[in-house]
Amino acid sequence: MASSSQEVPAGARKLEGKVAVITGGANGIGACTARLFVKHGARVVVADIQDELGASLCAELGPENSSYVHCDVTDEADVAGAVDHAVARFGGLDVMFNNAGVSGAPCFAIRDATKADLERVLAVNVVGPFLGTKHAARVMVPARRRGCVISTSSIASAVAGAAPHAYTASKRALVGLTESAAAELGRHGIRVNCVAPAGVATPMATAGMGGVDERAVEAVLEAAANLKGVGLKVDDIAAAALFLASDDARYVSGQNLLVDGGFSVVNPSLGFFRD
Ligand SMILES: NC(=O)c1ccc[n+]([C@@H]2O[C@H](COP(=O)([O-])OP(=O)(O)OC[C@H]3O[C@@H](n4cnc5c(N)ncnc54)[C@H](O)[C@@H]3O)[C@@H](O)[C@H]2O)c1
Repeated sequence: MASSSQEVPAGARKLEGKVAVITGGANGIGACTARLFVKHGARVVVADIQDELGASLCAELGPENSSYVHCDVTDEADVAGAVDHAVARFGGLDVMFNNAGVSGAPCFAIRDATKADLERVLAVNVVGPFLGTKHAARVMVPARRRGCVISTSSIASAVAGAAPHAYTASKRALVGLTESAAAELGRHGIRVNCVAPAGVATPMATAGMGGVDERAVEAVLEAAANLKGVGLKVDDIAAAALFLASDDARYVSGQNLLVDGGFSVVNPSLGFFRD
């Protein structure tokens, strides 16, 4: 897959002239995607609650290509404001990337799970994309620009036991929201999809594993992976988001694109494929 550190020649840019909003864009998958989208000719609004990180990313990307807005995705006024900022600053909206997410408490026992944690995880991981999709449609439908919405789900949308209950519930709800929105918005030429990463070493993953470093996270993920010797990187998720955002995916809608090296389709418990 393409790396966000490579230069992209003008004729090969996949998002030339497009405008994107990326929630959770200050860090991890969102920041990597912002860099890749800009390399492919997009102008990007980075929407996040980490103001210093978001502003410094936009300083790196340049003011002609990017703009930071404070946006808590659980707050409808913030989400509406981020979308309106894209229109005011860059003239429209073509790609809404609902990427902000939280893992919630690292609690795998339903008896110990709390309602407050569930509500917090649903607020960020489901209400956030709901508001992002709603406000993207608000500007995309009348503009007739045939835009697209992408949300970051997770391997937890396809495999049980890969994440805490609240997180799994949130990402499955997100896939349902995506399919429902794809059903409605298709008649306006708007595509709606998810990108569904397996575990990848971002600040979320390192924090979720108790603050260990990236290499330790990658070693754990490699040991569990179906596809060996490759190692999932944030660049791979950004490349999948770029595919979904671009005309390469012009007839792809209502999909949950798993970037998991086949993990979710394999049940290794029978052990047929041992060397
Ligand atoms: N890292 C993984 O292993 C993994 C796997 C599957 C799915 N995902 C999903 O990928 C997405 C990005 O996660 P990441 O791994 O890059 O994590 P990350 O923690 O590096 O980045 C998440 C970003 O979301 C922002 N954010 C959190 N709450 C927010 C809110 N209320 N409003 C706006 N922004 C908010 C954070 O400030 C941060 O910049 C999430 O939706 C996550 O669930 C991650």
